[in-house]
Amino acid sequence: MSHSTDSPARQPGLATTALHAGRRMTEERENSPALFLNSSFVFASAAQAQAIFAGSEEGNIYSRFTNPSVNAFEERIAALEGGEKALATASGMAAITTIFLTFLSAGDHLVLSRSVFGSTTTIANTLLNRFGIQSTQVALSDLAAWRQAITPATRMIYLETPANPTLELADLSALAQLAEEHHLLLVVDNVFCTPCLQQPLSYGAHLVVHSATKYLDGQGRVLGGAIIGKRSLLMDHIYPFIRNTGPTLSPFNAWVLFKGLETLPVRIEKQCDNAEQVAAFLLHKLPTTAVHYPGLTSHPQHQLASRQMRRFGAIVCLDLGSLAAAHRFIDQLQLATITANLGDVRTLVTHPATTTHGRLSPEMRAAAGITDGLVRLSIGMEDCADILADLEQALARSLP
Ligand SMILES: Cc1ncc(COP(=O)(O)O)c(C=O)c1O
Repeated sequence: MSHSTDSPARQPGLATTALHAGRRMTEERENSPALFLNSSFVFASAAQAQAIFAGSEEGNIYSRFTNPSVNAFEERIAALEGGEKALATASGMAAITTIFLTFLSAGDHLVLSRSVFGSTTTIANTLLNRFGIQSTQVALSDLAAWRQAITPATRMIYLETPANPTLELADLSALAQLAEEHHLLLVVDNVFCTPCLQQPLSYGAHLVVHSATKYLDGQGRVLGGAIIGKRSLLMDHIYPFIRNTGPTLSPFNAWVLFKGLETLPVRIEKQCDNAEQVAAFLLHKLPTTAVHYPGLTSHPQHQLASRQMRRFGAIVCLDLGSLAAAHRFIDQLQLATITANLGDVRTLVTHPATTTHGRLSPEMRAAAGITDGLVRLSIGMEDCADILADLEQALARSLP
């Protein structure tokens, strides 16, 4: 069979990319990736050391900034997000802090969503302030508020969509346009979606940030983070910061995450299947306004979610009206484990107001829509009937 030479190169699908991107093989011809548990690498000569340090020859130097296991993970997550380059960090917060401290200087201004992970808000309110960087927090879905918050000093806009834990959405195309109009860096935390459900770079985001601790690992084993975007943005700006300050991902964690990515597409499909059923089940049991899931037609931004996300994710939230009711319900769950993580293959439950967002003031939590009765379920891969049975018995025992 003859192939036309001008036909476009075939792009592999996401599942193939998750399995093959970043693969390398040493002279031992291993099929599963080797783990490079090394702090430093050997030079053949002093001259080679000089050449590699000078950048005239490629090669590993020291694992704070060059390690093959870390590079493999970076290549794979970059390919999945459709980015030119990724840089890995020790945790999601290390990635977020790296972005802030790389691109913001004293006198600069940051606009961020008020519905972001608690530590991100804390950094903006404390650490950045100490260095003379001011920030304004706005309602995630209010485009006019984003526009209004921009000042001549603004350099960056930062958000999560869907947000943790309110599941409110931002319109990525609209915010990318706003960022372009004002020459701002648009940074999107893509933890809740993963590249399987949403690729923010394709909507015009400049940087995507991940807590790899969540779905990318997917099995609750290691901490990790990643920043993905254009090669120049990463290598000219972020790489020197990481190289010199050291918020580096450990090779072991990178190796675990590299393997974790292989099963990401199948895990996400199964977890979305289960989450859709859980949301429908809860809607049957609770008032419509008490169940939050972008896949429900009752979600105020369901249309946007249908346009922007391939599926609706595996986080479902329910509002039981009070802290006491939320704690009662959580304590009755038998299959779901109570933990501050999300994105695991097992179903997890969290009470954001008293844990992940507990350090925010009550006013800030209220503004972010994190009520005392809100419960976050991170739906796992169990047989869905078992998840539903667990929820049913917990609701029956905890609701008045
Ligand atoms: C949306 C989101 N972004 C960032 C983080 C921080 O990630 P890490 O715990 O890996 O530092 C979290 C942690 O829960 C999160 O949920």
